[in-house]
Amino acid sequence: MSEIYYPNKELFKDAAIKSMDEYRALVQKAEEDYEGFWGDFAKEKIDWFKPFTKILNEENAPFYKWFEDGQLNVAYQCVDRHLKTRKNKAAIIFEGDNGDQRVLTYRELFYEVNKTANMFKNKFNIQKGDRVVLYMPMIPEAAISMLACAKIGAIHSVVFGGFSAEALRDRIIDAEAKLVVTADGAYRKGKPYMLKTVVDEALSQGCESVKAVCVVERNGENIHWEAGRDYAFNELIKNESVVCEPEAVEAEHPLFLLYTSGSTGKPKGVQHSSAGYILWAQMTMEWVFDIKENDTYWCTADVGWITGHTYIVYGPLAAGATTVMFEGVPTYPDAGRCWRMVEEYQINQFYTAPTAIRLLHKTGANEPAKYDLSSLRILGTVGEPIDPAAWKWYYEEVGGSRCSIVDTYWQTETGGHVISPLPGATPIKPGCATFPLPGIKAEIIDEDGTPTPVGEKGFACITKPWPSMIRTIWGDPERFVKSYFGDCKKDGKPVYFTGDGAMIDEDGYITITGRTDDVINVSGHRMGTAEVEAAIKKHENVAAVAVVGKPHDIKGEGIFAYVVLKSVPSEERDGTANMLETMKEINMIIKAEIGAIALCDDMAFVPDLPKTRSGKIMRRILRSLVKGEKITQDTSTLEDPSIVGIIEDLLSKK
Ligand code: WTA
Repeated sequence: MSEIYYPNKELFKDAAIKSMDEYRALVQKAEEDYEGFWGDFAKEKIDWFKPFTKILNEENAPFYKWFEDGQLNVAYQCVDRHLKTRKNKAAIIFEGDNGDQRVLTYRELFYEVNKTANMFKNKFNIQKGDRVVLYMPMIPEAAISMLACAKIGAIHSVVFGGFSAEALRDRIIDAEAKLVVTADGAYRKGKPYMLKTVVDEALSQGCESVKAVCVVERNGENIHWEAGRDYAFNELIKNESVVCEPEAVEAEHPLFLLYTSGSTGKPKGVQHSSAGYILWAQMTMEWVFDIKENDTYWCTADVGWITGHTYIVYGPLAAGATTVMFEGVPTYPDAGRCWRMVEEYQINQFYTAPTAIRLLHKTGANEPAKYDLSSLRILGTVGEPIDPAAWKWYYEEVGGSRCSIVDTYWQTETGGHVISPLPGATPIKPGCATFPLPGIKAEIIDEDGTPTPVGEKGFACITKPWPSMIRTIWGDPERFVKSYFGDCKKDGKPVYFTGDGAMIDEDGYITITGRTDDVINVSGHRMGTAEVEAAIKKHENVAAVAVVGKPHDIKGEGIFAYVVLKSVPSEERDGTANMLETMKEINMIIKAEIGAIALCDDMAFVPDLPKTRSGKIMRRILRSLVKGEKITQDTSTLEDPSIVGIIEDLLSKK
């Protein structure tokens, strides 16, 4: 689709960036004086406790430092400072799965954060730099706990509530967390579900660093209680003071760790800074979401992912906005839930993933028409490419052909958006993330830094450091350098490689073509093939396995496993029923090791995998096979070239 959609000028009269000329002027400014560009914004946007004098320190590249001698407090930036001008404004509007509502004004949020911060300090002896793992549902206490950590300089690591006990344990151990904050559980599709039981299981082995578990009451279900370790959040904070002095931290002090999947090995603890991170979170709220004083903004992500960090909690609150937090799912009680909420809260910006858009399109194409969605100005997408059909429905039916769609491209590691349309300026091509944001030097290049010709795939790199970039991988600085600065160079110097391929068209528009590594994007969530394979290998009858992404109508990609069994009893050779049993067993293991998000949609039991003589599995061939594509790769280097035909045959019979 090559149609171009222009911003509705009427809606964006007061946009932060109103035209492509304004956009180009900002880009130009960053080109001419990169440090000045960032230094000026950092001075203007952040309430510094101690001003910085140095902007960028590149001495120890790629361990860049921004504004290093400045001091600030991110919770102060997000909450305290707003009391002067917006104390009675709604900071967080919460809607529960069952429709229960709770509104926290900035003043109330300030009190809650302070009480929680005092509780962390006084009851659990949490000090600056200590790690706190949050295993939380989508309730205000999740945001409050994040901010409470920031207030006292503790480092939080939120673990998505869908991860299993095993996955939670790995993250707790890697972060050496002292405290785990969780809830009894929460509600999903009208029913209670449990979180505390998962924490109990995680802590049953090898989490010596954890001294206490602080449990929020949400669903009131019966839970196991371990005296001396478990404490009731709601009870403890009652006695805490509402006064808590913010800890002044250095600009580079870690604000949080967030574990994400890479192509190899265990998940990596992506470490973010305080000043650089919050600066860009706030600026992108203003630029990409054009947030205005009276706007009500809703991002449907979960706080367990980076989108929830930057665009439910930190960005909106730093910008003084009203942010909606939703506990439920978009299809409960019906596929009109989101649109009913947009109408009720008069949402101005709605931000979600293409998976949700595809699902709502499929299950409730006519639902948007039943609601008054005229408050909407901006519709956002994130996490995966959006296909033209879903884009069109979103644009026409949800946005009434009036709203700007911002297809925001970014990653856990980039902290905030890096390539995205500006709603009041950028003419949009559907499915296209368009242009780098001002200040972000995103380039599509080959390994040596040569720009890729128009229409050809290249590597999406960011060739200059930027304030909100990942600082390191927790506990593994070598892996940080190798993972992100090992593949591409420009002018002989290593540059940040995102892991994504991209293409530029004749008008300079950037389209993201997807991961170039072994990461699968399931419903906009990153899954490392190595992690899933490691889980599958735990099945006693599995000899070898390779997983790949398989295109999926709703999820974008689903997980497909090629499994070689150690022994296939003769009665099972063509007995699909028993194979189904084995499939179920394998999926049970995945659920226990990682969580339901990593379940395989389908599997093929194959006699062998296509391997080179040195034993390397040729995933490209496996990816092509599952898509039913013709094999164009050279198979002569394979140990046994005939395996390709055998697998092809097996798949055609499925
Ligand atoms: C993919 C999510 C196409 C990409 C914020 C990236 C996208 C990974 C887009 C990061 C987009 C994100 N178009 N692909 N607009 N946004 N991606 O760390 O492959 O969970 O590398 O961060 O999602 O996933 P992550």
